[in-house]
Amino acid sequence: MSTTEQTFIAIKPDGVQRGLVGTVISRFENRGFKLVAIKLVTPSKEHLEKHYADLSSKPFFPKLITCNGPIVATVWEGLDAVKTGRSIVGATNPLASTPGTIRGDYALSMGRNVIHGSDSVENAKAEIENWFTAEEIISWKSHSEDWVY
Ligand code: TYD
Repeated sequence: MSTTEQTFIAIKPDGVQRGLVGTVISRFENRGFKLVAIKLVTPSKEHLEKHYADLSSKPFFPKLITCNGPIVATVWEGLDAVKTGRSIVGATNPLASTPGTIRGDYALSMGRNVIHGSDSVENAKAEIENWFTAEEIISWKSHSEDWVY
């Protein structure tokens, strides 16, 4: 069954530095998702450690928690936002990500794959809490019928 969900999407340092912030935001807006939180943040090692805690035993973990510059943290809301968000993001390994996905269109290597997207509703909740305060999540309704003539 389809449900309205929130998902955490972050444009990683390589995506910010390559000027892909607008592209990523456009893809989520164009698909029909609603932006409910956004900020530019330079994460501390501790913040990244918490975000990637489930990968702490992996050999690539030290690289993951090294800050390479600011990220753009966002929360998107809409129907099946977590699963559909992952399909917009594409597979973890760009070799397997299909053209049309963000990683399939813009990434060549696993360590520089442009974007993060929550992989489950449960993880999305934890990630949103890790990156945003409750006050930073803005619930809003479209009133476009009042100004589109
Ligand atoms: P993971 O959570 O497995 O993938 P995803 O980002 O698609 O949810 O891994 C987190 C990040 O760790 C991934 O985006 C890139 C990096 N990574 C590596 O550098 N090497 C690897 O072998 C894996 C699996 C991930």
